Amino acid sequence: MLRMGGNTVTYLGHATFLLTLDNGKTILIDPWLAGNPSCPPALHKLPRVDIVAATHGHGDHIGSLLEVAREHQPKIVANYEICLWLGSKGIKNLCPMGKGGTQTIDGLAFTMVNALHTSGIEDDGKVIYGGEPAGLVIGLPGGLSLYHAGDTSVFGDMRLIAELYKPELACLPIGDLFTMGPREAALAIKFLGVHHVIPMHYGTFPGLTGTPEELRKMTHDIAGLEIHALKPGESLK
Ligand code: NI
Ligand code: MN
Repeated sequence: MLRMGGNTVTYLGHATFLLTLDNGKTILIDPWLAGNPSCPPALHKLPRVDIVAATHGHGDHIGSLLEVAREHQPKIVANYEICLWLGSKGIKNLCPMGKGGTQTIDGLAFTMVNALHTSGIEDDGKVIYGGEPAGLVIGLPGGLSLYHAGDTSVFGDMRLIAELYKPELACLPIGDLFTMGPREAALAIKFLGVHHVIPMHYGTFPGLTGTPEELRKMTHDIAGLEIHALKPGESLK
């Protein structure tokens, strides 16, 4: 059993997640709402967003960031370059950070960790340097440690993430093509030592072919592992 500590994790499709705390505050990770083919239309507009965290600059992770920032004025956790870009758009409440760093915002500890991917920001037909892609480990009130891997391949230093931050729940991409597929994600789960995994970044487009069923087959030898294949709109609480 996973101790959620009064927190709810809702999958909004692709790599977008909404965390809802006991006190009603919400944290939106990798906001891609209206343009996201997997996001249920009822969730395109959110009633409340207190913090937004972004792993990297690609449109399928920050496509709704400007809109959400203008509507809700949340605090925004992202790498330095994405924050510079947001600042150039007039967005405030920026909380820039880099890999290896931790900052506590409204009682949540955000740690930025590595990811093997790219991070260019598409803006008005140009690609802007978006710093390096990242993953995020979020320490939630009540003690739950959540790892959102962002877009990444598997890498050996996921063992460092396990050693340092001991994530209990991991959101891992499994779609293949732009990120890990199930084969790589199965090894990531071993490196991370997590027993609870929410697969993400699959099925949104025909090219993202990895499935939770394949991941289950490839991890059948990992004792105590639970794969929570949430459908968009579903929650873990
Ligand atoms: Ni990406
Ligand atoms: Mn992506």
